[in-house]
Amino acid sequence: METLLNTLKKLLLTLILGILFPGICFSQNMVSNNKEIAKKVDSILTLMTLEEKVGQLVLYNGSWDVTGPPSDVGNKVKYQKLKNGEVGAMLNATSVEGTKALQKAVVENSRLKIPLLFGYDVIHGFKTIFPIPLGESASWDMDAIKISASVAAKEATAAGINWTFAPMVDISRDARWGRIMEGAGEDPYLASKIAIARVNGFQGDDLALNNTLAACAKHLAAYGFAEGGRDYNTVSIGEYELHNTVLPPFKAAVDAGVATMMSSFNEIDGIPATGHKGLQRDIVKKSWNWDGFIVSDWASIAEMIFHGYVQDRTEAAERAMIAGNDMDMEGRAYDTSLVQLVKDGKVEEKLVDEAVKRILTIKYRLGLFDDPYKYCNEDREKNEIYTKEHLEIARDVARKSIVLLKNENNILPLSKKVQKIAVIGPLADDKDSPIGSWRAQALPNSAVSLLEGIKTAVTSDTKVEYQKGVALGVGERSFIRELKLNRADFKGISGAVKVAKESEVVVMALGEEAFQSGEGRSQVDIELTEPQQQLFEEVYKVNKNIIVVLMNGRPLAIPNVEEKASAIVEAWHLGSQSGNAIADVLFGDYNPSGKLPVSFPRHVGQVPLYYNAKNTGRPSNPDGMVFWSHYTDEKNDPLFAFGYGLSYTSFEYKDLVLSNSSFSNGGNIKVTVTVKNTGGVKGKEIVQLYIKDHFGSLTRPVRELKGFEMIELAPGESKKVSFIVDERLISFYTANKKWEAESGKFTVFVGGDSLASLKSDFLYKN
Ligand code: BGC
Repeated sequence: METLLNTLKKLLLTLILGILFPGICFSQNMVSNNKEIAKKVDSILTLMTLEEKVGQLVLYNGSWDVTGPPSDVGNKVKYQKLKNGEVGAMLNATSVEGTKALQKAVVENSRLKIPLLFGYDVIHGFKTIFPIPLGESASWDMDAIKISASVAAKEATAAGINWTFAPMVDISRDARWGRIMEGAGEDPYLASKIAIARVNGFQGDDLALNNTLAACAKHLAAYGFAEGGRDYNTVSIGEYELHNTVLPPFKAAVDAGVATMMSSFNEIDGIPATGHKGLQRDIVKKSWNWDGFIVSDWASIAEMIFHGYVQDRTEAAERAMIAGNDMDMEGRAYDTSLVQLVKDGKVEEKLVDEAVKRILTIKYRLGLFDDPYKYCNEDREKNEIYTKEHLEIARDVARKSIVLLKNENNILPLSKKVQKIAVIGPLADDKDSPIGSWRAQALPNSAVSLLEGIKTAVTSDTKVEYQKGVALGVGERSFIRELKLNRADFKGISGAVKVAKESEVVVMALGEEAFQSGEGRSQVDIELTEPQQQLFEEVYKVNKNIIVVLMNGRPLAIPNVEEKASAIVEAWHLGSQSGNAIADVLFGDYNPSGKLPVSFPRHVGQVPLYYNAKNTGRPSNPDGMVFWSHYTDEKNDPLFAFGYGLSYTSFEYKDLVLSNSSFSNGGNIKVTVTVKNTGGVKGKEIVQLYIKDHFGSLTRPVRELKGFEMIELAPGESKKVSFIVDERLISFYTANKKWEAESGKFTVFVGGDSLASLKSDFLYKN
């Protein structure tokens, strides 16, 4: 009798599963409608045991690759748990073969056959590598940024991945922080636009396609405000700053439909972000009405013990779940404690249910229930990764990301007929550093080096002489181990001086190794290493025509180079096509159009340094006294300002016209400016609009970016560019604890960088 009952039960379950997961058991129909998905999710939930529910909240690392301290779950145990349906997602498991095997373990063995998510840090490309995100942000080109993310999605999904831990939308004003390379810089407006472009690029129009994947806005929140720029460090940020500066890119990602978010390692004013209910449950989920799920950062739930916020993993799991953190990445807190916490009545089961629903909803949206193997296509893996077409796109995005910082006497662009070029510097023939940190599946040494790029660009009449001069690092480059910088290597300088002496022009590649920035790579020093500085000085003594090509993952303090070099080309870590892209700019095949997404300090002591700062009560010294907000040994302003970047042509801004001198609630003003190409070649300009709110219920920044538009002009050509200023644009999170526009006087500034001086005033009345 009992066997018959069991058989009947099994039959019923199969029938229900067949209806719920048509791809597995019956048809291939795609489920798209949200209500329909919600219904299906609810029905699965009713079938799930508490253990199976908690299993969906567990994210394990594929053991062959770590991006954090390894946890103590062995492979065997993990595999068994997969089969039991006690794991919801895996990270760092890549390749069709690998992901298929894991998916199979779940689908063929577990009771409910709920497919796995496969997460991976696809940060700036998968195997075809694009510029590091900070560099790409310098393009201010939303189409380029979107296409870069969509190529990354295409490649990653061809290798089994369906979830990327990107974009990182953390605002950072601190060049010491190694992860500044992974974000969009210091400005919430620009970073919000970029967040949208990246989410749209990764997720496409339809998450259910097999070449789009779920994005993850991270790290919630204020991770970029770590004290002293030291990674993982404490954050003390006020509520208003949090809302006005840190949260806008997260909100933008939500408005763009981001599927997931990741909570951050840091605490905020005494509460670890992972256990922060106000942030996760109240703001993001409730007030923004967002229906995606939040994953913890690597072990960040358990790390609340070290923060001194909870006593053990059990309490960590309790706090994180109550706070709204849906999934545990390698924290071993949910899998070890959550079932018991529910049984003991410490965590309400409905909270677990809610988390499960959010996760299952994303799995449905991805179409995994229709076909759990939809990202496991050997043909795609063979044919759609690292293609010629992708490399061409990478070259285009890379050259758009370059910022021309100095060009004295128009030394650039160089003629391709130049007779002798000395290519010097530790990064000149480096085929690895341009790939940057967070390089996913890039092959080591796979970038086109600057030297290769130059050699390809010139004719056979040009002699290219290379000398490394000095080295940057010693030993093996590694993502997980400390980098050993070589600060005592001066041997090759004389060789470099010799070739420089005999050449018409020197192209000198200076900056940082790939792994000088990225996670866990904070530095107190943001200058060039001593051997590089000496190399520059010695070469300068014999040849003044130095074009410095900077490769770096953070703003560098280079006042000496700025003073002496003839030209400076900011080339970040540009990815697979780095050398070709730089050569395109050096020889004028591409007219540089990038603008800095972050301020470059003169000295590390100025950090944090950002253009949208507050005025303070003592902003200047009209009476010549010492009592004003300044340094006695350095200027206040940056070496290169936010928004700054030159072109091979020049632009004139004039005729700033406001359609009205005031507007009120519901109205707007049209701001129009005329921009003219006053130089000799066609060029692109990023026209920027800044607004100063003169006073408010809270002190206001000296100015804020509120609009930008990229235009292209032929020599002599003029164009009118207009921006609409409305209530939404001048709103901020006020002392009333809500987003609103306050009455008062405003000034608009329009120009080619954050120092724009063309201005006009208007009044707003609400
Ligand atoms: C990082 C995350 C990353 C995760 C998984 C963590 O250490 O902070 O940004 O997504 O590892 O690799």
